[in-house]
Amino acid sequence: MDPDFWHQRWQARQIGFHQSAPHPFLERWWPSLDAAAGSRVYVPLCGKSLDMVWLSVRGYRVVGSELSSLAVEEFFGEQQRTDVQIAQHGSFHRHRAGAFEIFEGDALQLTPEPLGPVQAAYDRAALVALPPSMRERYAQHFATLMPAGSRTLLIAFEYEQTIKDGPPFSVEPDEVQRLYRDFFRVEELERVDIIDESPKFAATGLDALYEVAYSLTRAPRAISR
Ligand SMILES: C[S@@+](CC[C@H](N)C(=O)[O-])C[C@H]1O[C@@H](n2cnc3c(N)ncnc32)[C@H](O)[C@@H]1O
Repeated sequence: MDPDFWHQRWQARQIGFHQSAPHPFLERWWPSLDAAAGSRVYVPLCGKSLDMVWLSVRGYRVVGSELSSLAVEEFFGEQQRTDVQIAQHGSFHRHRAGAFEIFEGDALQLTPEPLGPVQAAYDRAALVALPPSMRERYAQHFATLMPAGSRTLLIAFEYEQTIKDGPPFSVEPDEVQRLYRDFFRVEELERVDIIDESPKFAATGLDALYEVAYSLTRAPRAISR
């Protein structure tokens, strides 16, 4: 998507993706990733997600990336952080307070320096926010940020894309495998049909909307096939 698309969504308050409670898959599956408390967790395309707060409460340091300055300001404002420090890192503004750091800018331009070492990642509504033409670049770039052995919890949507357009886009298991398998061991953890709790999707005529959790384990080097 064009960056303006997202800036306009935030300005117009069209942020239906934002959830008022931590994601159930995060609560259910994060412990199985065995990420040590104190680890730095990368949260790409983080918005102002309360999932970042859930992680921080459990002792993780959270490093997000987000295009929208409004999203970043709202996140720190809602967390009542009055101690936010902002520094320029190339094309990014890094906002930092307590356990949180958010790099404001284009996530696909983020490099290991200035991101710093991360040991785990959490992708909810990041991959699926991107149109098909951007996903391969996104996945390959994401792999450059994640060290060998690191674990990622990825949450994707699946639905009949001919009935409704994205975002969020439908990303099927075959595509998840194809995007990540050169760098990660990909394992599907759980799928749940949430159409009954998703009236906007149901109103389009969809009769199923699956949320699917995956674990991605970063291989030491590209996996040859
Ligand atoms: C669907 S929302 C999901 C936000 C968050 N992960 C959540 O669960 O609430 C996608 C977010 O990605 C941001 N975004 C889109 N493209 C981006 C990019 N290239 N770099 C950084 N952020 C981006 C948007 O501004 C938006 O806040």
